[in-house]
Amino acid sequence: MAFTNRIAFITGAARGIGKAMATDIVTAGGSVVIADIDLAAAEGTVRGLPADRALAVECDVSNVTSVEAAVKIAVAAFGGLDVLINNAALHLMTWNRPVTTLTVDEWRQLMDVNVLGIVNCARACRPYLAQRPGAAVLNISSIAGFESYNAYGVSKLAVRGLTTALAKELAEDGIRVNALAPGAIDSENAMDELPSDLLTDLIQVKQLIKRQGTRADLVQAMRFLCSDTGSFITGETLIVGGGHPLRV
Ligand SMILES: NC(=O)c1ccc[n+]([C@@H]2O[C@H](COP(=O)([O-])OP(=O)(O)OC[C@H]3O[C@@H](n4cnc5c(N)ncnc54)[C@H](O)[C@@H]3O)[C@@H](O)[C@H]2O)c1
Repeated sequence: MAFTNRIAFITGAARGIGKAMATDIVTAGGSVVIADIDLAAAEGTVRGLPADRALAVECDVSNVTSVEAAVKIAVAAFGGLDVLINNAALHLMTWNRPVTTLTVDEWRQLMDVNVLGIVNCARACRPYLAQRPGAAVLNISSIAGFESYNAYGVSKLAVRGLTTALAKELAEDGIRVNALAPGAIDSENAMDELPSDLLTDLIQVKQLIKRQGTRADLVQAMRFLCSDTGSFITGETLIVGGGHPLRV
């Protein structure tokens, strides 16, 4: 199995895409640390997984002390780390706003979580990942990072830049770093919040594949990039968006 004896630290995994990835890693033989700012929800997710292979930890990715404490707890529990998935983010309609409409404090909050959060987690996990052959980092960007028309899109464009920068830096320690750029995916929060006319336009007009993107679509891509199947790939951002946006 792809993740036998592997340990993954997944941020924002209490629900949605991160939860689906955590569940898949456990199914494929691995152990997971559900690191989320919402501890109660993270504990709820862990209750649905085998007790000896899943752990909930409170973690605010924008806070260095909180990240370092969460990583320490994870390593103490499982003895190391093989995979880091930087999935936590501020997103949806609160942040899909024109760049000039956010206050300076809102901009700082967005960048602290979506961009610096990845730096914080990469820095804290690096020494442990460096000890494991085949270690991998996966950042979650967005198709909005290819069409950066609002504040959220700018933060996700930065995630693509971080992916190449970290790939270069962490290669010294044998760690691969890639990203996924999902289109609209069926996480509960996205389905609750995204306006139906926006989804219809995306699926029926912009996407080449005329269906809703699912968490299962992303899980398959995660498996590829985080397991040894993707062992010759680093620094890439893979769009999982039904053919939107196209690029050469
Ligand atoms: N759902 C989509 O359609 C879609 C599309 C493109 C990209 N994405 C990206 O995929 C990722 C997951 O999306 P989702 O829809 O599953 O999200 P979600 O809203 O369902 O879950 C996000 C999780 O992140 C946690 N979180 C928020 N701030 C945090 C912080 N500071 N520290 C730690 N945890 C924090 C939340 O508590 C929550 O559990 C995000 O990076 C998002 O930008 C989602």
